[in-house]
Amino acid sequence: MDTKGNMKDKVLILSIESSCDETAASVVENGRNILSSIISSQIEIHKEFGGVVPEVASRKHIENINDVVAEALIKANVEPKDIDAVAVTYGPGLVGALLVGINFAKGLSYAWGKPLIGVNHIEGHINANYIENKELQPPFLCLVVSGGHTHLIHVKDYGEYKILGMTRDDAAGEAFDKVARAIGLGYPGGPLIDIAAKAGNKDAIKFPRAIIDDETLDFSFSGLKSAVLNYLHNSQQKNETVKTEDVAASFQEAVVDVLVMKTIKAARQENLSTIALAGGVASNSRLRERLQEKCLSHNYIFIKPSPILCTDNAAMIGCAGYYKYLSKEFADSSLNAMPNLKLAN
Ligand code: KG4
Ligand code: ZN
Repeated sequence: MDTKGNMKDKVLILSIESSCDETAASVVENGRNILSSIISSQIEIHKEFGGVVPEVASRKHIENINDVVAEALIKANVEPKDIDAVAVTYGPGLVGALLVGINFAKGLSYAWGKPLIGVNHIEGHINANYIENKELQPPFLCLVVSGGHTHLIHVKDYGEYKILGMTRDDAAGEAFDKVARAIGLGYPGGPLIDIAAKAGNKDAIKFPRAIIDDETLDFSFSGLKSAVLNYLHNSQQKNETVKTEDVAASFQEAVVDVLVMKTIKAARQENLSTIALAGGVASNSRLRERLQEKCLSHNYIFIKPSPILCTDNAAMIGCAGYYKYLSKEFADSSLNAMPNLKLAN
């Protein structure tokens, strides 16, 4: 806003994301144009523990956040006076990790005299679709598949969401990570299963398709995970060699089958003809390929962010923050971490 309270035609948002194991900062112009996006990943540190260690994540965020934010400003070639608002993820996520980003954003907002905006991490993932698809406007359907969430969402308007279905147990990414660990692929499992599956036979092992019942748009992946563990256990008892690539391909196909089937069903139910993907698992090559095929045959428009915008980043937070800036949804200094923040009821 200018000094008369009018909206400017060029709005720059500095955004910060620290909900899990990526410390990220970005400068986004008018919600759709990335001027800089810096991501400092802690994957190498958490790898040796086989998963994210919350306290280690918080400590690493504290060490990195200053440099990451400074770099975002330098790369964007902007100064604090050019920034219109500071947006930050305030949930869902790891509480200690979120607090680092929130507190840093509060400090900047106070010191620079700029408004503070709290952003829901899942809303950020959905909004990543606007960055490379400048014409995209609500309404559309979005399948959000990340390490912590599996949601089918009707995006009714900017900031207005209807949850159509969600996982009743494990998130899709969680299932990828757990199965990867069981077959000895390491952490994070999703990208490693994606690669291994390319060398495997997706029809080698018949794993269950957790459709639950036909009425619901909810998901369930814990049964599939148990089926993979049982298969590994039985093979070991029978002294049979397990072909890791076949397990990866067959498991991945079972997940993708259910995700694609429910997504198409949701689009039909809600009468939506644009389908978008979001979250870390959205970078899965087989999911992208299968959904693309299905959308082509149903005449739906299919939209997906580049893989770097699917996994955690701050540009998506800046994009979501821009629409909150337009509707003047500002936070005050009491903004706190909400580890279980919901997108909608
Ligand atoms: O969105 P994200 O970066 O963090 C959360 O908000 O959770 O998602 C991380 C998840 C991890 O479970 C990771 O294994 C999964 O996304 N993932 C993938 C792929 N790349 C990342 N899963 C399947 N295939 C991939 N290519
Ligand atoms: Zn995420």
